[in-house]
Amino acid sequence: MDKTMYAIEVDNLTKIYGKGETSVTALQDARFKVRPGELVAILGPSGSGKTTLLTCIGLINEPTHGTVVIDGTTVADDGWHSGIDLKRMRREKLGFIFQAHNLIPFLTAQENVMIALEINGLTRTDAKKRAVELLNALNLGHRINNYPTALSGGESQRVAIARALANRPKVILADEPTAALDTENGKNVMDLLKKLAVENHSAIMVVTHDHRMVENFDRILEVSDGRITAEKNNREAG
Ligand SMILES: Nc1ncnc2c1ncn2[C@@H]1O[C@H](COP(=O)(O)OP(=O)(O)O)[C@@H](O)[C@H]1O
Ligand SMILES: [Mg+2]
Repeated sequence: MDKTMYAIEVDNLTKIYGKGETSVTALQDARFKVRPGELVAILGPSGSGKTTLLTCIGLINEPTHGTVVIDGTTVADDGWHSGIDLKRMRREKLGFIFQAHNLIPFLTAQENVMIALEINGLTRTDAKKRAVELLNALNLGHRINNYPTALSGGESQRVAIARALANRPKVILADEPTAALDTENGKNVMDLLKKLAVENHSAIMVVTHDHRMVENFDRILEVSDGRITAEKNNREAG
């Protein structure tokens, strides 16, 4: 199969924090591929390596060994691939939803989303339109002109989600995106992710430790002690 048939390809991916006796192998020999449009859950107990896996794919944590290929481009090959423009790859291909949202305090909700779009070349008018559309989809229509200090934790988290999704990235990585949300807003976020997988053909990986969420996903990777210990398909892929 053609390399670019996959949005994410990971092989032999290993992350060791520190050196010598105090080193921690947080991730060992991970290997999987994700197709465009696939929604994959990463499930596992606390400390099992879920965040490490996601941040290594998300180009914010340098892998120790192994390869990561994003949308046909090798980004890591026993450390960062030489000459790779990580910032540009992140901006153009990836949308990252962290546990801790980090909104820009002096911009309104709408402006926080617009800035991600304007950085990638959208006009102000188009950026505004798309920002409002996304914020509406996340039940934040009444909050667009509020500054982050006026938003609740759950509302801030949803603004950060809107910002991560704004550019319709090929690859969306989310680290427990619904953990801080109530049931209704958690469901809205999952519905939006599912919609993006279908409409934009985004490959989406979501860390969760909520087993009730799993029916939303095409595939589930179970992580334990830094290793992928099980892989389950919910639907027949492609
Ligand atoms: N920056 C770091 N330095 C050293 N050890 C780390 C670091 N980040 C994570 N770890 C360790 O790596 C392991 C996996 O952590 P993590 O990927 O955060 O797991 P999870 O997200 O599943 O809770 C844990 O043992 C954790 O203590
Ligand atoms: Mg984590």
